[in-house]
Amino acid sequence: MIEQREHWGSKAGFILAAAGSAIGLGNIWKFPYIAGENGGAAFIFIYLICIALIGLPVLIAEILLGRSTQRNPVGAFKKLSGKPFWVTVGSMGVLAGFIILSFYTVIAGWSIGYIIEALRGSFSQFSDPSIASTYFDERVSDVNWIVGYHTLFSILTMGVVYAGVNKGIEKGSKIMMPVLFFLLVILVIRGVTLPGAEKGLTFLWSPDWSKISGQSVLVALGHAFFTISLGMGAMMTYGSYLSKKDHIPSAAIQIVFLDTLIALLAGIAIFTAVFAMGQDPASGPGLIFVTLPVVFAKMPGGVVWAISFFLLLTLAALTSAISLLEVVVAYFVDERKWKRHKAVMVFGLITFIIGVPSALSFNIMSDVHFFGKTWFDNADYLASNILLPGGGLFISIFVGWVWGFDKVLIELKEGSESLFVKYPLVIKGWKIFLKYLSPVMILIVFLHSVGLLESAMLQFRTNWVNISLTLTAIYLLLKGSK
Ligand code: PFF
Repeated sequence: MIEQREHWGSKAGFILAAAGSAIGLGNIWKFPYIAGENGGAAFIFIYLICIALIGLPVLIAEILLGRSTQRNPVGAFKKLSGKPFWVTVGSMGVLAGFIILSFYTVIAGWSIGYIIEALRGSFSQFSDPSIASTYFDERVSDVNWIVGYHTLFSILTMGVVYAGVNKGIEKGSKIMMPVLFFLLVILVIRGVTLPGAEKGLTFLWSPDWSKISGQSVLVALGHAFFTISLGMGAMMTYGSYLSKKDHIPSAAIQIVFLDTLIALLAGIAIFTAVFAMGQDPASGPGLIFVTLPVVFAKMPGGVVWAISFFLLLTLAALTSAISLLEVVVAYFVDERKWKRHKAVMVFGLITFIIGVPSALSFNIMSDVHFFGKTWFDNADYLASNILLPGGGLFISIFVGWVWGFDKVLIELKEGSESLFVKYPLVIKGWKIFLKYLSPVMILIVFLHSVGLLESAMLQFRTNWVNISLTLTAIYLLLKGSK
């Protein structure tokens, strides 16, 4: 028997689930450190422009594709076009879901690991960043530690998706998102009331334009895609559980607003504490796993703050990971008529296995390079620099040019007629941004990625020369030993 397609119980349920997908490691781990590295306020300003002018229009397009077709990304393109090219675009989304989830669970696993480390009181010895850094390196070099937490986080993700759209994703998001918000507000209050916190706020609000380059604009746009979960059909899949009476533009604005608010609040909580404790704001990806534990060690009641922070990070990552797995599950349920439970077990397990080499990239496989990068870096690069911007580009081209804009407007009008009557200019603006600005801007990011691809190709050729030489040597050795 084919299972009935589920729908969100309420619009709030959808918004919380979609905001849950958007708010994740991208907001709390990545945004603060890339803002720290790219000049604080100046970067944030460019990022906000990218979100408003490109992220929001593409988000509306993705949700609309899902709601109109009531399908996963592959099914959606199949229903509207049927051309192999567009079906491949949908398949790329499912593939991106697989790949991102496989390494996302590794980093999210560190977060659970750090809750336990905080509970054990390990952070109290961190009198300076070098001790914290060594401690972090030791943790991630420990295969049991890293694979163990990767396993635990993967099981949690599978558990929520297994329970279904209403009882798992919607219910889970309705509980986790308010807890996340509560924890973050408490951490912000703690941060801004620390003596010396104003230096952190000054860093966040006073722009250093000299740090802005073409590269920072590309980073801002790439991050805008990642943080709103665009370009791979996660929002399309969530949109496919919406009914026609829902107002898509207002839902999209609320999702983007919540995502941006959480990123900014995370920035405030982190930088006020980092500056108050005299630490380095531009310490890169180690900002929250190395610098923050030092900050916690120096704060009164640091253990409680540390546990709250890593719990917050774990919840944020979990509500995003479930949306990644849901894309893959929805595909197998809709297109292959699998039962949800079977799809969750099989593909949860496969993504977990693909994730193991990502976990090992920090220890026993750290010297194993493909195209000049570790497995983890390749997975991140392929998803964030190629599949997501590529997906975003084709989604905006499809909705802007291929689907037929009259049909697009009829679909969008369902549930949002008042917007068409009261603010026709907004609709015109959306059309222009989606048809022209988004594809051009995304193409620029994409070409930049391809530029990097060229150097990867060079590496590939060098690798082949090395592999052929090694094989020839082995052959000669074997021949000689006979
Ligand atoms: N938006 C998530 C974050 O900021 O961490 C990451 C993500 C989730 C990207 C789901 C793509 C996706 F489909």
